[in-house]
Amino acid sequence: MIEYNKIYNMDCMEGIKLLDDKSIDLVIIDPPYKLDINKIKKPNGFNNYANDLLDLKDGFDLKVLDLLISKMKKINIYIYCSKRQILELLEYFKNKNCNFEVLTWHKQNPSPLTNNIYLPDTEYVIFAREKGVKLYGNYHTKHKYYISGVNQVDKKKYGHPTIKPLTFIEYHIENSSKEGDVILDCFAGSGTTLVGAINKNRKFIGFEINKEYFEIANRRIAEAVQNKVGEAN
Ligand SMILES: C[S@@+](CC[C@H](N)C(=O)[O-])C[C@H]1O[C@@H](n2cnc3c(N)ncnc32)[C@H](O)[C@@H]1O
Repeated sequence: MIEYNKIYNMDCMEGIKLLDDKSIDLVIIDPPYKLDINKIKKPNGFNNYANDLLDLKDGFDLKVLDLLISKMKKINIYIYCSKRQILELLEYFKNKNCNFEVLTWHKQNPSPLTNNIYLPDTEYVIFAREKGVKLYGNYHTKHKYYISGVNQVDKKKYGHPTIKPLTFIEYHIENSSKEGDVILDCFAGSGTTLVGAINKNRKFIGFEINKEYFEIANRRIAEAVQNKVGEAN
């Protein structure tokens, strides 16, 4: 029995099956990217960085999306991805008659790899929604781009090599859900989506397969709940 406001240390292919059908309002996921890991520069402080990324190089099985769709009230999903995954994801959601946007996260200080390639300064987010799914938010939250540094501080602080910017994720939450809605992140990593849900008064469910990242996410969740209680007093 899966409870709200918890993260579970398990393979999401098993976890998603335990959810009730049509119980999720919004999905935000940042699954393994298709990456060429030889071109990635190791950030300071990450000795096993290439190893950490090995499991990220092949992308993820689109069967996860089939499972997720059965659990969403209506298709309403943000998927962080690499440029290699954009085509297959757009094709997938076109076949489901969804509207879509390609949002981008731009990093101001990427590693200086200039040899015959563009700078690695952009990550992509596919947003897909079924007809009838509303977009909320405001002028401030609805830009299609978000600009920040490369997140070295968060990477070091929370010990996850591919942590995403909390503010951008909070914009997705504000734009695509209401207070009290249920948000699922089944590749939770250090728990950024789950912290965003707490900050924005939404319910959440998380799955993370790696024990170390699961524990990091649990610590961040406890910290975010504590901050909320502090704000209320
Ligand atoms: C790109 S990271 C997510 C980072 C996260 N957005 C953050 O800000 O910290 C992807 C995560 O998915 C986890 N993962 C990979 N396969 C999984 C699976 N089958 N089930 C659950 N988690 C999985 C990895 O361990 C990794 O932490």
